[in-house]
Amino acid sequence: MIKFTLNGKQQKIAQDLDMPLLWFIRENAGLKGTKFGCGIGQCGACSVHINGQVSRSCSIPLSALDGLSITTIEGLSGDGEHPVQQAWKAIDVPQCGYCQSGQMMAAASLLADNPAPTDEDIDQNMTNICRCMTYVRIRKAVHKAAKLGKNVG
Ligand code: FES
Ligand code: FES
Repeated sequence: MIKFTLNGKQQKIAQDLDMPLLWFIRENAGLKGTKFGCGIGQCGACSVHINGQVSRSCSIPLSALDGLSITTIEGLSGDGEHPVQQAWKAIDVPQCGYCQSGQMMAAASLLADNPAPTDEDIDQNMTNICRCMTYVRIRKAVHKAAKLGKNVG
């Protein structure tokens, strides 16, 4: 039996512990904001936070999560007003949108560690792939979120 929290709700699981976290999030918990892209830890579409650090949920089995705290895009804020969410809306970042929840989770984790990242910091830390090439807007939105975060306090 393992226990972890998913967006603040306690989960207790005794079977299928080899299941990747992404499958649990989408199929068992019914949270569809976290996406399946490559399935091999490369694209970042499945990014979530594990104890606040961005992690690729397709490549992490449930057995590795005992005692940890998982946050998905649905749990990033209670009201959709996290600085990253506000900035993404203001800059109108998404094109098809498929990669964007992963991008936002990566951005939120980066800003938690580094509240004022440079372009270089963003490029080095945000390795999520966007097939629609929204990278320029993503970078702009990260800078905007950094400013909003500062204003919020
Ligand atoms: S689906 Fe997990 S990194 Fe691509
Ligand atoms: S917005 Fe389409 S893959 Fe990124």
